[in-house]
Amino acid sequence: MRIIQSESTADAISAVTTILMDKVNSHPSSVIGLATGRTMEPVYAQLVQKEANFQKSFFFMLDEYMGLPSNHPSSFKQYIKDHLLNPLKLNESQIAFPPVDKTDAGEYYEKILVEAGRVDVQLLGIGQNGHIGFNEPGSTKESRTRIVQLTEETRKANQSHFGEGEMPREALSMGISTILSAKSLVMLATGKSKADAIKYLLNHHDDPSCPATYLKSHPHFTLVLDPDAASKINLNI
Ligand code: F6R
Repeated sequence: MRIIQSESTADAISAVTTILMDKVNSHPSSVIGLATGRTMEPVYAQLVQKEANFQKSFFFMLDEYMGLPSNHPSSFKQYIKDHLLNPLKLNESQIAFPPVDKTDAGEYYEKILVEAGRVDVQLLGIGQNGHIGFNEPGSTKESRTRIVQLTEETRKANQSHFGEGEMPREALSMGISTILSAKSLVMLATGKSKADAIKYLLNHHDDPSCPATYLKSHPHFTLVLDPDAASKINLNI
C-alpha cells in the first residue's frame, strides 16, 4: 500500500489526475473504473481542464442507484456525463454503465467486465462508514457485482443530491472481489468527514465493518489523502 499524504487538497487532486494522465499517456487504451461523489468532482474538473486524452480508453462505472430513470439528474450516469464525458467530448459507447434495468444485472456486468479484460486503474472514494463503491459494512471480501441495500448513514450523507425527493434505498455495486480484480486501485479521501474512516482503515485489516480495509491486501493500492482526511493519523513521513 502506498500512501500519498498531500500538503493541500489541490495537491491531492493533482496526485490522482497525474496517475490517471500518466496511465493513459503511456497506455491510451487503458480500462479505467470510475467513481462518483463530491470527492471526485474536482478530479474530473482537472482532467477536463488538462484535456486528458481518453479518446482510446474504456470506462466502467463503479456503481449506480437502483430505481432511477437513467436521465435522472442525480443518477451516476448523468453525473459522469456532466463531469467527464460531455466536457471531454467522449463517446457514450466508451463507457459501461451498471445495467440497473436488467433482472440479472450483477451477472451481466461481471460478464462484460471479464470480456473487457482487467480494469487497469480503479478510482475509489470512501464513505464515512468505510464503504467503497456501495459495499456497505458487512460486505464480504468475496462479493461480486450485485444489488445492495444502502445504510441509513449513506442515505443521509447523499440525501442532499436528491433535494426534497426520496433517496434510493438500493444500488448496484461492483463487489469487493470485483474491485480487487483491478490491476491497480487509487483511493482519494478529502475533508475532515473522512478522517475517522481513514484512521480506521490504516489500523485494521480485512475488517467487514469497514470494507475499505479489504483493499490493503491489493499489491497496487494507492491512498491519496489531503491534510484534513489525514488529520487523525500519524504516519511520520
Ligand atoms: C460513488 C461511490 C461511493 C463514494 C463515497 C464517497 O461512486 O462509489 O463509494 O465514493 O460514498 O462519496 P463522497 O465523495 O460524495 O463523499
